[in-house]
Amino acid sequence: MDKLFSDSSSTGLVPGPLPSSMQLNADGKLRHFLTIEGLPPLLLEEILDRAEQFLNLPGTVQNKLPILRGKTVMNLFFENSTRTRTTFEIAAKRLSADIINLDIRNSATAKGESLLDTIRNLEAMNCNMFVVRHSSSAAAHFIARYCAPHISVLNAGDGRHAHPTQAMLDMLTIRQHKPDFTPLKVAIVGDIKHSRVARSQIHALTTLCTGEIRVIAPQTLMPQGIEEMGVNVYNHIEKGLADVDVVIMLRLQHERMNTALLPSVREYYARYGLTEERLRLARPDAIVMHPGPANRGVEIDSRVADGPQSVILQQVTNGIAVRMAVMSMVMGAALAPGKANSQREGG
Ligand code: NCD
Repeated sequence: MDKLFSDSSSTGLVPGPLPSSMQLNADGKLRHFLTIEGLPPLLLEEILDRAEQFLNLPGTVQNKLPILRGKTVMNLFFENSTRTRTTFEIAAKRLSADIINLDIRNSATAKGESLLDTIRNLEAMNCNMFVVRHSSSAAAHFIARYCAPHISVLNAGDGRHAHPTQAMLDMLTIRQHKPDFTPLKVAIVGDIKHSRVARSQIHALTTLCTGEIRVIAPQTLMPQGIEEMGVNVYNHIEKGLADVDVVIMLRLQHERMNTALLPSVREYYARYGLTEERLRLARPDAIVMHPGPANRGVEIDSRVADGPQSVILQQVTNGIAVRMAVMSMVMGAALAPGKANSQREGG
């Protein structure tokens, strides 16, 4: 884990460095999905191809595939979420897994039990997968490190560290419009400093050999040393948007700001909001993305969010397919319906 997005709120959860190799089993297959960092390009492409196959399978949207029949998935969301939790839930149901949403607010950890004790108890209930969202960076790594060998952990967002399934659904959306990443100029605009989405996107775009990655933000929302990730830094949106193929807008992460980093939301919109006029600086066929939830009139003008270049709703649909892909891969399940198996090994 690099220091750029290291998070003091992770309160010592992380016992030493976090090798990305802990995500793979001895055969190089995906065992947990915690971060994009360090994963080989072929594996990212496998996720995208599998997601695309799910999208193309006739009837997948209405019918269930028996791929994860008999498996139990637990949604462990220690941080508020509706969209992401729901898409994991739908993905699990489409694969015929049983899914349980744990009500964390009333759970044992809220009553003082340690995270590890909670995990041990859930393991004993014979579940196969934990989907974890937590406000502490590296919480999912921590659980993956200490959970039983039959369990896979999917990171659904940890602090400001990583949000790998979001990044992969973004890559799928980009690929559907612009199949070759190598000539692309991609701009990520907004609260880069607090965004786990930005960090995972940068790792994914880099792994997929994107031509140029730009980050655009006011100085106060730009993490120090971000250039080390191989991105070009812009403080002026007008300059940064020139000729880009993809514009990714980010939400202001007020919940992660300890101090006033912006004069006002109004001024932020005046200087960084994506308006129709600013979008005209990008290539005419540029696509506009946002991981959601989008604040209209803060990061993005409604006319752009609902306009012809917006692919925001397509991102949501792709989110289900990508989560189905990752869930089936960590369980070692074959794609063909009826051939669900447990060829999962080791780890
Ligand atoms: C993102 C997140 O939680 O990091 N949203 C999401 O997954 N739907 C981005 C955000 O909250 O701004």
